[in-house]
Amino acid sequence: MSEQLLQINQIHADIEEKEILHGVSLNINPGETHVLMGPNGAGKSTLGHVLMGNPKYHISSGNIIFKGNDITGESTDKRARDGIFLSFQEPLEVPGLSLESFIRSAIRQKTGRPIRVWEFHKELKKAMDVLQLDESYTQRSLNVGFSGGEKKKAEILQLMMLKPSLAILDETDSGLDVDAVRLVSEGVRAYQREQKGALLIITHSTRILEALHVDYTHVMVDGHIVATGDSSLVDKINEEGYESFIQAAGKTEGAN
Ligand SMILES: Nc1ncnc2c1ncn2[C@@H]1O[C@H](COP(=O)(O)OP(=O)(O)OP(=O)(O)O)[C@@H](O)[C@H]1O
Ligand SMILES: [Mg+2]
Repeated sequence: MSEQLLQINQIHADIEEKEILHGVSLNINPGETHVLMGPNGAGKSTLGHVLMGNPKYHISSGNIIFKGNDITGESTDKRARDGIFLSFQEPLEVPGLSLESFIRSAIRQKTGRPIRVWEFHKELKKAMDVLQLDESYTQRSLNVGFSGGEKKKAEILQLMMLKPSLAILDETDSGLDVDAVRLVSEGVRAYQREQKGALLIITHSTRILEALHVDYTHVMVDGHIVATGDSSLVDKINEEGYESFIQAAGKTEGAN
């Protein structure tokens, strides 16, 4: 059995004194793809932020083990260097920092080594070709004036270049046209195939999942993971919605 990549153990997390995650546990092995679904406001993005170490969220109990180390109290920088990547639901705009410089400095920080410029450019071009992103974007300020879809593609470009061991994609597919979903999913597939990277995909749509192999699907309701299954759980949600999960969660809570 391979060593677990990520163990989330009974995490309780709050923001502004309101508890959002009420004891979430989840394990991810190297190379596995997990999908996290659930109604709006369930706490999915919160889990992404907590895993990335966003200081706005406070963990009151539980721990996070990544590659065998307890990272519960580690900074976002350290987690990124260790190989966790989060693609935001709403990527930030950074005027004055070009997309290319941003990716280069992130790689330098992660590896601690100078970058071989020629190889970097070759790889960047290859990744941009997969995503059909025009070369001119590399010199533009990070996300500034990018359309919604272009921002999402820029996130996947970072994923392909940074080669993390775990990527958390928070609604990377929302607002993308059909062709862009296909390209983004192509980029994610390249990461699965070439890096053997693990994924936690937070999504409301199944379009991005169609071309990807999914190992597990989890349903989050009101800060709890209430169901875990294989990819067929996605079809059940599509057909029936979240009503049965919400009711089951309510009953469990009532019994507690
Ligand atoms: N800064 C904050 N202050 C107060 N409440 C917050 C704050 N940030 C998040 N929350 C609350 O935490 C809950 C979970 O939010 P979260 O963004 O994790 O949901 P989500 O499952 O990602 O939903 P969606 O599917 O709509 O993206 C929501 O009720 C939200 O209002
Ligand atoms: Mg969200």
